[in-house]
Amino acid sequence: MKLRKWQDIISLDKLEKGDVTNVKFGAKDLAVYDAKDGVFVSHSRCTHGAANLCDGYFDGTYIECPLHQGLFDVRTGEAKAAPARVQLKMIASRVRNGVVQIYI
Ligand code: FES
Repeated sequence: MKLRKWQDIISLDKLEKGDVTNVKFGAKDLAVYDAKDGVFVSHSRCTHGAANLCDGYFDGTYIECPLHQGLFDVRTGEAKAAPARVQLKMIASRVRNGVVQIYI
């Protein structure tokens, strides 16, 4: 069994300010949101189709999918507008010493 632990994924100063940044971490393709309420991390792929949410519009709370305009709340992953219905899988994250970490 693999032990989960906090791992560094990107420096805070490398994030797009107030926007979403695409980060590759091993085999994972992540979306890191510099949101109004803090930093949040999810998988970058939309739950509706094969779109990368990092190409979508981010207003600081909601990410809009670039393909069909499905909407997700990045604080919870909740799908807020059709055609997105399945919640976005959020990844536990924190900021330590200026670095964004995820718990995996
Ligand atoms: S692929 Fe994202 S809403 Fe359809």
